[in-house]
Amino acid sequence: MKKLDLLYEGKGKRLFACENEDMLIAEFKDDLTAYNAQKRGNEKGKGALNCQISTELFRLLEKNGIKTHLVETISDNEQLVKKVQIIPIEVVVRNIATGSLTKRLGIKDGTVLPFALVEFYYKDDDLGDPILNDEHCLILDLASESELEELKRLGREINVILKSFFKDRNLKLVDFKVEFGRDKDGNILLSDEISPDSCRFWDAKTNEKLDKDRFRQGLGGVKMAYEEVLKRILKGNDR
Ligand code: TMP
Repeated sequence: MKKLDLLYEGKGKRLFACENEDMLIAEFKDDLTAYNAQKRGNEKGKGALNCQISTELFRLLEKNGIKTHLVETISDNEQLVKKVQIIPIEVVVRNIATGSLTKRLGIKDGTVLPFALVEFYYKDDDLGDPILNDEHCLILDLASESELEELKRLGREINVILKSFFKDRNLKLVDFKVEFGRDKDGNILLSDEISPDSCRFWDAKTNEKLDKDRFRQGLGGVKMAYEEVLKRILKGNDR
């Protein structure tokens, strides 16, 4: 499938038109950003790692009944995806308190939450991705009430599937962010990516961070961490 016009460039990906007007080509970039792009970096090969990790995880989720935008992976760092209208809500699911949750509510870092916490954030860089409740979403007309319920249900289902998958690979799924889009028939599809850029993974034994927090916190070894996550995903490839 030939890449045509560049339609959109985000922090982690470029989206291109292709010969099929119902589809797009998503190219994963090597760029790293944090704190709303105030911190920037680049790690050669990171895009390809995220593309492979996200492909594996989307396939796992599809196999478990979650509809996604992924059609096929067409190169090391490119996926053919269904064109969707992105819902501008970042759905964050948390199992362990860390990051912005500990700062906002004073919960001790590393506290295991009594149940998976689902939060919505407004996908708006100019506003710094503020947290939203359901009523904010309705007032901003981001999604309908039934769609909001579906986003929460999907976030929880994805968490159950991924948490158990990573537990078998000696990784704690601390938290993650997912995005959804509507296809032309209004179906909600998991979109964007699931990778160490958008999740937190801690080693089950040592709690070593194996995700973008290594970049955010300047810990080094970013690429090695992403490689380790991919290795563990593929090692237990029993699907
Ligand atoms: P937070 O603790 O910074 O709110 O992040 C929660 C999770 O969501 C973490 O796994 C990182 C991910 N995330 C993104 O992927 N993109 C974002 O813009 C934000 C704010 C969080």
